[in-house]
Amino acid sequence: MMTLTRRYRFAASHRLNTDALTPEQNARLYGKCNNPFGHGHDYVLDVTVEGAPGASGQIVQRETLDQCVSQQVLRHLDHRNLNCDVPELHGKVATTENLALAIEKMLKASWTLPAKLAHVRISETDRNAFLLETR
Ligand code: NI
Repeated sequence: MMTLTRRYRFAASHRLNTDALTPEQNARLYGKCNNPFGHGHDYVLDVTVEGAPGASGQIVQRETLDQCVSQQVLRHLDHRNLNCDVPELHGKVATTENLALAIEKMLKASWTLPAKLAHVRISETDRNAFLLETR
């Protein structure tokens, strides 16, 4: 078994806030990430697929994977407000953990590739990254 990882980038804004808490509690819990009008990140998304190289000598065609990620994920996230524009995040706090779960859902909703989705890794800043096993 072998994996292929492709890297993608998108920019999006968010605000960490939950209606379950008071404004003061939100401010304490999320700090500056709770600032009322949000802030942006240049996210780095790594999508890893797993399989055996077929007759073509490839696990999947890069273009096929790129097209899938672009159609299912990037066009819905790039230059968007994660709190408002992404149905998969409605009712959830727009943390990068929840964003990783949303991206898994978006990819699996119409996954037609011959290789298995192995994991999704998303980095919000150069100091944090989240790895979601999706096998
Ligand atoms: Ni943030």
